[in-house]
Amino acid sequence: MIILKVKNLSIKEISKINRVVVEDVSFTLKKGEALGIVGESGSGKTVTAMSLLNLLSEDLMVSNGSIKFLGIDMCKSSEKDLEKIRGNQFSIIFQNPISSLNPLMKVGKQILEVIEKHQNLNKKERLNRTFEVLSDVGFKDNFLEIFNKYPHELSGGQGQRIGIAMAIANNPKIIIADEPTTALDKNIQNQILNLLKDIQKKYETAIILISHDLEVIENFTENSLIMYFGQLVESGTTKDIFSKPAHHYTAGLLASLPKNFKKGEPIKVMSGGIPGVNDIIEGCVFSPRCPMSLEKCKQQKIEFILNEKNNTGIRCINPIKDNSYEK
Ligand SMILES: Nc1ncnc2c1ncn2[C@@H]1O[C@H](COP(=O)(O)OP(=O)(O)OP(=O)(O)O)[C@@H](O)[C@H]1O
Ligand SMILES: [Mg+2]
Repeated sequence: MIILKVKNLSIKEISKINRVVVEDVSFTLKKGEALGIVGESGSGKTVTAMSLLNLLSEDLMVSNGSIKFLGIDMCKSSEKDLEKIRGNQFSIIFQNPISSLNPLMKVGKQILEVIEKHQNLNKKERLNRTFEVLSDVGFKDNFLEIFNKYPHELSGGQGQRIGIAMAIANNPKIIIADEPTTALDKNIQNQILNLLKDIQKKYETAIILISHDLEVIENFTENSLIMYFGQLVESGTTKDIFSKPAHHYTAGLLASLPKNFKKGEPIKVMSGGIPGVNDIIEGCVFSPRCPMSLEKCKQQKIEFILNEKNNTGIRCINPIKDNSYEK
């Protein structure tokens, strides 16, 4: 069952006319699905995620397209209706959840408040639900101790667990996790990702995982979106994208993964850099860096072609053909 449908989403910066920050993003999300969003810094991952919950900062606005969550148009809903959805059926975990908590309130109380806001439970039931989510995020023997801590008393990993506990407290249909593990060491990172996996299974929650770490996306998600300079350039199953990418940008990202190099061999990096925010590029935005760019790539705007049958999409007129990709 499709629970989120994003169609031709574009976002622009209001103060600078014509500065498009996100352009023509389309995808769907099914119940219980894990979807990855990958792309270099500044490619529009966070802005896209925030727009899904209608949480864009004041200088940004959705200029085109639609976002439908369970049939509700998120761009046209009133703030009052959105308040009922956020943190309830649709929640988000930030990169640094400790800073988004109230520093003066014990974490247990903050979880209780999120539950109280959205569920009609008595005090005892709310408390039980709080203990249950603390246990879900791995605080089994020490949940009371954690319940009584202030945010600054938490370690990075504990803070991330509390962020997840707050996000799942009302049993949402979708959780967005924006770089949830970037600030953590590898071991804690894996624990947190495994935890998200357990939650995805237990509650059949769909998870949108944003990361610039390709290995995290490969291990965790079923489907992926690859973003470049505000555009969606490739989408499909994670397995296909990682084994036979069709877009040259995706191939470039994969080719620079350290695991694809022998010890001592220099790691390849993609030539060029992401365009500057004020650069205007005619035609394909990746063409200045693309090894297979043709003259016509620079002359025309490239449409994102979505194949609805197998749910794959590509924004390239000269894609890599099946089997011609070599790591
Ligand atoms: N509030 C804002 N006002 C204007 N422009 C913004 C705002 N927030 C982000 N942007 C611009 O939107 C583009 C996309 O930013 P975004 O934060 O979504 O990138 P990202 O892919 O999440 O990068 P990172 O991996 O660094 O988190 C960037 O060019 C950024 O400068
Ligand atoms: Mg970001």
